[in-house]
Amino acid sequence: MGKLKVGILISGRGSNMQALIDSCRSPDAPAEIALVLSNEPTAAGLRRAAEAGIPTRVVHHRDFADRAAFDAALHRALVGAGVEFVCLAGFMRLLTNDFVERWRDRMINIHPSLLPAFPGLNTHARALAAGVRFTGCTVHFVRSEMDTGPIIVQAAVPIRPEDNADSLAARVLEAEHRIYPYALRLVAEGRVTIIGERAIIAGAEAPGETLFNPVP
Ligand code: GRF
Repeated sequence: MGKLKVGILISGRGSNMQALIDSCRSPDAPAEIALVLSNEPTAAGLRRAAEAGIPTRVVHHRDFADRAAFDAALHRALVGAGVEFVCLAGFMRLLTNDFVERWRDRMINIHPSLLPAFPGLNTHARALAAGVRFTGCTVHFVRSEMDTGPIIVQAAVPIRPEDNADSLAARVLEAEHRIYPYALRLVAEGRVTIIGERAIIAGAEAPGETLFNPVP
């Protein structure tokens, strides 16, 4: 069977993109990165992708009259590159309903909190302000409502008394780099089924298969 052709959408530094690229380098990886696409021409991730020999594209949102036209261009670029599956990796544009439905169950995102807690921005500062003892990160299928959709993998990250938003973000990011490639692999191996808006992982008998608990 051929490898799943993946498109990664980014807007910035692209460290999760890099983790996905690195994991797809292994010969037994079930997925390959066919395209990295950024809406920001200056995104640092574009250079990292090019250095890794991955085709890159810029679709600049400012070149389009509205979100529908921008999303249509995104869609064309992805399909034109033979992309079958989309990974959002720090992509900072809200996607239209149409686009989300076109890629329904074929598009995943990484979010730096234990969803459904703390959707949206500034998750680490909000977790600290709320006084929660754990935060973490989530890989989930994308639905129209921001940061919702069936959860594939989560990692819990304990919050230390001395943490600030930056120190917490750094530890959560390490966990992100572990779970995003893992979640993509599960999907590309055909082990993930969505039943009633829950993602069920075939062969994941032990909770350790879909929950990562980094050591504090
Ligand atoms: C990550 O924290 C990710 O969870 C969030 O945006 C950030 C992107 O960072 N969606 P990077 O571009 O992958 O380094």
